[in-house]
Amino acid sequence: MKLPIGVLVSGSGTNLQAIIDAIEATCLSVDIRLVLSDNPKALALERARKHGIPTFVITKKDFPERKDFDQEAVKALKASGVELVVLAGFMRLITKPFLDAFPMRIINIHPSLLPAFPGLEVQRKALEHGVKFSGCTVHFVDEGLDSGPIIMQAVVPVMDNDDVETLKIRILEKEHVVYPEAIRYLAEGRVSVKNRRVVIEGAQGADGALFNPALTAPLKK
Ligand code: GRF
Repeated sequence: MKLPIGVLVSGSGTNLQAIIDAIEATCLSVDIRLVLSDNPKALALERARKHGIPTFVITKKDFPERKDFDQEAVKALKASGVELVVLAGFMRLITKPFLDAFPMRIINIHPSLLPAFPGLEVQRKALEHGVKFSGCTVHFVDEGLDSGPIIMQAVVPVMDNDDVETLKIRILEKEHVVYPEAIRYLAEGRVSVKNRRVVIEGAQGADGALFNPALTAPLKK
């Protein structure tokens, strides 16, 4: 059986699109059972509908309490048979009951090399700090802010003439490669966590895809 996943979105959904594209190119064998958004206007919802993927919207207006919102989200995800929750630009923190409903089965992608620059506006913060490299991080979600065990990272250089937009785009291009790849490792049951170190069976540290700054090639079957 293909791993049933749910994707949580709030905005443009380019990462969702990368996951859909990888599935359609038969590079990724998972089944998106639900795309859930807190924003009824998210472009990501349109992307899902275009590909016939069921969508569900839960607004803050209807569920002002975080715990009620999350309870509703868990209910919808469980009803769809979701086993892995993929946060893709979902602009809310996840409460403990939500985490407990999917233990070590919620992942996120963040546009910096964690633990540097957790939180929001991280491309601006990276530029202001003057880092020479940035990138993206796929990690398990825990109770902290972007603090869970790191599954994969990809690195991009920061150019002298970069602004927030150019850096954001360069990082996003890596996100679109790394996120489907990380989901594939999880779907293949190759990911284990020892203490807080994530080990991917068949992939060695800096070898291959894991940390390669030049990782731009399309996913291989
Ligand atoms: C990405 O930069 C991701 O790292 C962050 O939110 C952004 C989502 O972009 N968590 P998109 O909606 O996938 O285009």
